[in-house]
Amino acid sequence: RTPVPGLTVNSDGNVWVPQRARPRRNRKTEGMRSLVRENSVGPQNLVYPLFVHTKDYNEEIESMPGCERHSVDSVMNEVKFAHSLGVNQFILFPKIPEELKSNTADECYNPDGLVPQLVSRLKHSFPGISVWTDVALDPYSDQGHDGIVSSDNRGDGGKGRILNDETIEQLCRQSVCQARAGSDVLGPSDMMDGRVGAIRDALDAEGFTDVSICSYTAKYASAFYGPFRDALDSAPRESSNAPQNKKTYQMDPANSRESLVEAANDVLEGADMLMVKPGMPYLDIIRLLKDNTDLPIAAYHVSGEYAMLKAAAMNGWLDEKTAVLEALLCFKRAGADAILTYYSRQAAIWMNE
Ligand code: PBG
Repeated sequence: RTPVPGLTVNSDGNVWVPQRARPRRNRKTEGMRSLVRENSVGPQNLVYPLFVHTKDYNEEIESMPGCERHSVDSVMNEVKFAHSLGVNQFILFPKIPEELKSNTADECYNPDGLVPQLVSRLKHSFPGISVWTDVALDPYSDQGHDGIVSSDNRGDGGKGRILNDETIEQLCRQSVCQARAGSDVLGPSDMMDGRVGAIRDALDAEGFTDVSICSYTAKYASAFYGPFRDALDSAPRESSNAPQNKKTYQMDPANSRESLVEAANDVLEGADMLMVKPGMPYLDIIRLLKDNTDLPIAAYHVSGEYAMLKAAAMNGWLDEKTAVLEALLCFKRAGADAILTYYSRQAAIWMNE
């Protein structure tokens, strides 16, 4: 055989493309690959979001196959099981009955409410876990917003405004209520300006100096939250004076530099961790915050991302285990320390295999 014109032949007569550097040498065996591997992800990196409601049975969530709205007892079982697999962090999202919702969302600081009651039960039964709670008004809002909606029509598009400082006062009440119940980490997901500092001060004034704040620093106005809003029935309401989207407080997906402004504020206001949300379409933002701040970074692998992977897996279009573990690893590579994912339970099973 004559070699292809332009290619060389070595002294043995075999085709030879002369080059000294051959990166494949570092990939030649699993032993070599594991020697040079830069990142890994384990159950200790996962934060498991759980939906809870007041019913005493579980309900499936159509757009999130494999996830459920749990009864309180079922949350206890789910936490026990995931904890036995090495997952130590859990974040709770409540579906609140319609009759308890209002524009000012006062149910969010009811000490006998679903979340505080569940937090204290969890902390009592599983001393080794951290319980995270979401700080925002939307599960409790009859407008489907993270803040209080003004009754005027001076907001975007002639709708009501989302009142920043009035909302913060409610968030402070909610935070102190959650801290009293035993929450370890508060996650303000509302995107009001200045809420991290105000919550920090409210917590400290009550002696909760050890309660952490993982701020949703760069939370984008994203279509990928759709299934979550189905799960909690928390989407902005059609009939109200409320805007039909959250664009006056959540960030514009077109922007990246704005995330640095948010991060700088959160650092100054005393946040302990900075979160980026959604996850996979926003890996560049995770890296940006990792390189420009010194706090740990959390990433939220959100409901729509879960739904996409699940749908492809259920159709046999993706190998679920390989694709999910790859996605989680890529969060670490991009710079995330903690990953909030609905796959936590399943991923921990796979990671333990
Ligand atoms: C609301 C909140 C949302 C999510 C977490 N907290 C939705 C929203 O902003 O409308 C979304 C999480 C997900 O999609 O998995 N405070």
